[in-house]
Amino acid sequence: MNNTAIPLKERIIVALDVETPEQAKEIVKKCESRISFFKVGLQLFMGSWFETVDWLVDRGHKVMLDLKFFDIPETVKLAVEQVNSRGVSFATIHGNDPIIRAAVAARGDMQLLAVTVLTSFGEEDMRAMGMTQSVADLVYFRAKRALELGCDGVVSSGLEAGKLRRELGEKLLIVTPGIRPGANVQDDRDDQKRIVTAGMAIKSGASHVVVGRPITRAVDPMQVIEQMQQDIIASSR
Ligand code: C5P
Repeated sequence: MNNTAIPLKERIIVALDVETPEQAKEIVKKCESRISFFKVGLQLFMGSWFETVDWLVDRGHKVMLDLKFFDIPETVKLAVEQVNSRGVSFATIHGNDPIIRAAVAARGDMQLLAVTVLTSFGEEDMRAMGMTQSVADLVYFRAKRALELGCDGVVSSGLEAGKLRRELGEKLLIVTPGIRPGANVQDDRDDQKRIVTAGMAIKSGASHVVVGRPITRAVDPMQVIEQMQQDIIASSR
């Protein structure tokens, strides 16, 4: 799919990283006039299981279920099967070839995204985990492999998105977290290390950006969304 064909309302995926379904619904109601794609991750899923997912789907929104499945292939396959009839649009997994193959075989109508390297990882974190490759090389290696194995896309930072788009083609979904409004400002760094602005990510070739705290913790979330969407329009290729 050509990125420009993706509706503006779906290009920012708002990460509902909150404790309860009530808090999540409040955020959704606040921004659904401009946003129609939401991410349910570990915190909210642990607190509400499928309640928020089902509510979002019933309300006509798209859902990215970000549980980053990683286990032996059979367990991942069975977990993906538990999700594939829920109306979820994107689900995340990671692992080696047999794990990814098992997930792909079980995905049903969902699109599967392979997590490459977390956006909270820098080079020093790679070394600390015994990895000798650079972040960029490992992201590219994993993305290429995931695509070859039948994944629909990857999760990568905006810093790697350009090469992935150039080398791996237009079809691949590139979903980019680590979005900060002023990505060159050191103060914006929290646990995220590989950060860019929404516009930079889109210009590099990201199909979607994932944004949590800059929107959910903003005094005026709609203003942040509006600015990011303007940035996305100006940066769309
Ligand atoms: O609050 P913030 O914008 O940093 O939220 C980013 C979201 O994207 C979080 O929910 C995090 O779990 C998720 N994510 C990420 N890096 C990845 C995959 C997912 O930050 N590689």
